[in-house]
Amino acid sequence: MRFLTTRWEYDNPVVSWVSSCTELNEEALDHLFLLPQIDFKRLNEMNRREHWEKVYSTTPTEKVGWYEPHLQTSLAWIADLGLAKDVQIIDIGGGASTLIDDLLSEGYELITVLDLSKSALSSAKERLGKRSEPVTWLEGDITSIDLPTHHYGLWHDRAVFHFLTLPEQQRQYRDSLLKALQPGGHLIIGTFAPEAPPKCSGLPVQRYNPEQLAGTLGSEFELKRHQQEMHLTPSGVEQMYLYCHFQRSD
Ligand SMILES: C[S@@+](CC[C@H](N)C(=O)[O-])C[C@H]1O[C@@H](n2cnc3c(N)ncnc32)[C@H](O)[C@@H]1O
Repeated sequence: MRFLTTRWEYDNPVVSWVSSCTELNEEALDHLFLLPQIDFKRLNEMNRREHWEKVYSTTPTEKVGWYEPHLQTSLAWIADLGLAKDVQIIDIGGGASTLIDDLLSEGYELITVLDLSKSALSSAKERLGKRSEPVTWLEGDITSIDLPTHHYGLWHDRAVFHFLTLPEQQRQYRDSLLKALQPGGHLIIGTFAPEAPPKCSGLPVQRYNPEQLAGTLGSEFELKRHQQEMHLTPSGVEQMYLYCHFQRSD
């Protein structure tokens, strides 16, 4: 039997299930009677969205913990792939990152940036000005958005997948990935490594070594390359990242 519980993150209730009644707290009991009326998946999505909206609307882009002026590893690995400039690229949870600026400068023409946060996308668009016009901007949740079938040749994700700590969320992400990435397409993904702190942006994360990440993504993805890299947040905290390149089988 499973029970409903809530915990609080940034003033938002996060509702989840626990399998033992000893984990129940008073807040959970308060919510039990609401059970038939709540769509829990939507509620968790709303909480996630509010969290990121709050971060982006209160913190300048260069001050967020994951900020880097240029995503050098991603850029170098993308260059090494030698893809055509008209390859369809999607940056999952691209936020206000400068990857888009650099990809446009490299001549890539067909880029989509997907993020939960409207503020993050607006900030990137504002920074790019007219250069933002050819970009496809998608506001949505990667665990539920319906992306076009076998559309993208390159899927990039830095510091997004690791926020999906529940097997169900990871499965939903994998479903989106399998639907939208072309057979033979490439996946470049950066997550926290085992040595990194257990939280990112105040939220719990799943930390991975290459084998664990490969196991979670599934047998359709062949690990081609991996590397650990230390990131220093603007406030000086060390976060060890794991970058992996996978290729989807044909
Ligand atoms: C730690 S930031 C990383 C931003 C960017 N990838 C970078 O490296 O600078 C995580 C980003 O993922 C977005 N995000 C978090 N969960 C998401 C989800 N389920 N679907 C889409 N975007 C999400 C957040 O809004 C935020 O912009």
